[in-house]
Amino acid sequence: MKVLVFGGKGYMGQEFLRLYPGAVVPSVDIADCGAVAAALDEHKPDVVINTAGKTGRPNIDWCEEHKEETVRSNVTGPLVILDECMTRGIYVVHLGSGCIYEGDNNGKGFTEEDPANYMGSFYSRTKAWCDDILKEFPVLILRLRMPFDGSTHERNLLTKISKYSRVLDTENSLTYMPDFFAAAMQLIEKRATGIYNIVNPGTMSPFRIMEMYKTIVDPSHTFEKLTMDRLSEVATTGRSNCMLSGEKLSREGIQMRPLEDAVQEALSAIAAQRG
Ligand SMILES: NC(=O)c1ccc[n+]([C@@H]2O[C@H](COP(=O)([O-])OP(=O)(O)OC[C@H]3O[C@@H](n4cnc5c(N)ncnc54)[C@H](OP(=O)(O)O)[C@@H]3O)[C@@H](O)[C@H]2O)c1
Repeated sequence: MKVLVFGGKGYMGQEFLRLYPGAVVPSVDIADCGAVAAALDEHKPDVVINTAGKTGRPNIDWCEEHKEETVRSNVTGPLVILDECMTRGIYVVHLGSGCIYEGDNNGKGFTEEDPANYMGSFYSRTKAWCDDILKEFPVLILRLRMPFDGSTHERNLLTKISKYSRVLDTENSLTYMPDFFAAAMQLIEKRATGIYNIVNPGTMSPFRIMEMYKTIVDPSHTFEKLTMDRLSEVATTGRSNCMLSGEKLSREGIQMRPLEDAVQEALSAIAAQRG
């Protein structure tokens, strides 16, 4: 299976390259039809994994002020990849986000069929717009939520929130990267299509995670609780908080470990690295 990864220099892209070490990683703008077509014709992949996209630095607030670049990378680019791959019969894998939802859907969690109900940030809107089009085609959309692992990578949720002095106390679904990549590999192997929520069963708040961080990693760590009504004191645009249903993935026979166990494992790995 010849794999081509777009966005291979990013956080998720680097991880996919660990999963598929033989993958080719062309350095092209995914919104440039000619460049995407040339890369596909040169490498002739069986599978294209699109991990390119604008997520904003230091965070999604950036996307509010850079709408043109954000829409180009999060909507136009994926559509170019779709078009160029479809004409060549290439299987496409795209990364979606759970940040298009708000709430827990009456305790059931949002399924892959539920329409987006969170439009509070431009980043979230571009992710929802893109999914709405891609889901009409035989594309695999891996929908993840606040990815974390036991590394000290700056994009790891645990690293990010350990640097915050105030941490949100709102419950969320989360995605443990080792489980995500095991699930992604199985779905890709089967050539699955459609949207799959890939989250660990259960919800946790970042505040609860930091309480565990204090116990497992650093007893001297200090932080305060941040409630959603005071979010505007630390962010310029809204943030989604939501619970996703993982039932579709589970019906596929793919299991994710319970969220609290995953957080425990990741924090223990971080503690071990600190010595
Ligand atoms: N990390 C998360 O929390 C999370 C959660 C859910 C979903 N996702 C989705 O996962 C995907 C990857 O996210 P990530 O966290 O890996 O982001 P990332 O670390 O910012 O990586 C994205 C990569 O894509 C590149 N890129 C942006 N626009 C491009 C374009 N037009 N053509 C080619 N490359 C382009 C970026 O390069 P530049 O840096 O030069 O722009 C960067 O190297 C995105 O679709 C994101 O929405 C991420």
